[in-house]
Amino acid sequence: MEERNVAQYHNQIAFAKNFDPNSKLKLQNEASFNSSSNEDGASFNDDAFLTEELPQFYSDSESSSVGSVTPPPNNACQVGGKNLGFETFVRNPGAEVFDISGCGSVAKFIASRIDDGHETGSFLVTNLSPIIAQYQQWVRELPMVQPFFAVKCNPDPVTVRLLATMGCGFDCATLGEMDMVLNGLGDELSFGPRGLASSSIIYSHPAKMVSHIEYALANNVVMTVFDGEDELYKLANLPGHENFQVLLRLATDDKHSICRFSKKFGADVREAPHLLEVARSLGLNVVGVHFHVGSGCGDGNAYVTALKHARWVFDVADQLGMPPMRIVDLGGGFPGDTGGYGGPGMPTFQELAADIRAGIEMFGEGFTRPMESIRFIAEPGRYFVSAATTIATMVYSRKGGQNPYQALYVNDGVYGSFNNVVYDHATPVPKKLSLVLAAEAAERAAPEARTAEAFVPESHLMAPMPTSIAAEAIPTAIFGPTCDGLDQMCALETTVLPRCDVGDWIVWENQGAYTHTASFVFNGFTHVPKRTYCIL
Ligand SMILES: Cc1ncc(COP(=O)(O)O)c(C=O)c1O
Repeated sequence: MEERNVAQYHNQIAFAKNFDPNSKLKLQNEASFNSSSNEDGASFNDDAFLTEELPQFYSDSESSSVGSVTPPPNNACQVGGKNLGFETFVRNPGAEVFDISGCGSVAKFIASRIDDGHETGSFLVTNLSPIIAQYQQWVRELPMVQPFFAVKCNPDPVTVRLLATMGCGFDCATLGEMDMVLNGLGDELSFGPRGLASSSIIYSHPAKMVSHIEYALANNVVMTVFDGEDELYKLANLPGHENFQVLLRLATDDKHSICRFSKKFGADVREAPHLLEVARSLGLNVVGVHFHVGSGCGDGNAYVTALKHARWVFDVADQLGMPPMRIVDLGGGFPGDTGGYGGPGMPTFQELAADIRAGIEMFGEGFTRPMESIRFIAEPGRYFVSAATTIATMVYSRKGGQNPYQALYVNDGVYGSFNNVVYDHATPVPKKLSLVLAAEAAERAAPEARTAEAFVPESHLMAPMPTSIAAEAIPTAIFGPTCDGLDQMCALETTVLPRCDVGDWIVWENQGAYTHTASFVFNGFTHVPKRTYCIL
């Protein structure tokens, strides 16, 4: 983020005036939150997205202070640049991390791997630098919100180790994901041995299998979520349930989000009083509220409204005489690149962060306890990893002859990494590797050409295509390698690409989120991706 934007941010929220990016604790200690007494909840009823207004549930309440603020680990934000011994962070059997600063671009690195014979099938290149940059941006923009990476998004052990090293926590939805974080990363990470790792995990699935709950309890993963009373009874039946710290997941107004979750998960906020009473009667410890505004959030107001609802639930808990709530989990929804999810018409991360800061400030209005007693966390998934991974595929078959259109058959498809076409509303953008290299060379030779608008703006990672080359593009369909007609990433009607031949390589940027993690075995293809890591 530019210094100018940092200054703008400082102006935007009053309590950030003492912001020190290296110390969340300092920020919170010096904060001047509005802590005037809260007499009624009317202001939170105004724009509830649900058709009915939130019921009044307030009377005078005693102010109390509970909970503790968890500062980020000391090493948060200390990872940057390229000479920080990445092997330490990302040590993983079989994983090599290449410093490609000498090479200059991911495209050139991909080409060199192909040219020297290291890669013959499709492969993924994960550049770890964007992950670090995203983490640092998060700490700058939302220093009061501790991120827990949504492991489901990309359970790549190297990526998860890197995020753990920087101080990130983890949203795990299943036994397998918890096991990976607890046992698959090594004890030398910043959160140290297993005991501490447990407290860096939120088991964030509202509909849980008993064996997974038992695993969580046995491994001291105590933070979890619920959204209905049946799940509460299930939890309460298990020995050790009193150790759980449960968060009530609320449904949100996710109509502007690309992937909507609130039909499947989340309680209507009006159900909160009843659910809290059931939880209390069962001896369950409700510590806060959780929500997810949908992946690919299209409107930052969704966070603001959800934070209002969260605050209302906090007040309801007070009125019921329950122990004061202390955690708000803002879920995910943040864009991770400038493609579909972060493309035109979608809010940027900075814009969403500004809405969240405003929402948190509103949360604090009239709050009877110190805001330092509230821990805000979030579960970003695609935000951290989307831009980091480029997929390289080879054209192994072609149809079209000399026609002014072509069909290309490549060695990864919808049953492999590109399952995001089916499950994640994705429209992956293909680029012919040789032309990306040519464009990069042209730009190096004449950097001023960019300002003369001789380049078609396409990508923030690789050099955009000169218009002269883009003009030669023809309608192109691209298919994956199975026999299924649905195994298609690009349609003739929507995609143009310069003419390709068998043996040409196609690269696809921004493929780090919800891609290979959901590939499956079909048609004799195992689709286990070959991964290479680099730092640029
Ligand atoms: C509970 C939960 N948290 C976080 C995420 C991550 O969302 P995103 O990738 O939009 O940040 C998901 C995505 O499915 C989710 O279900």
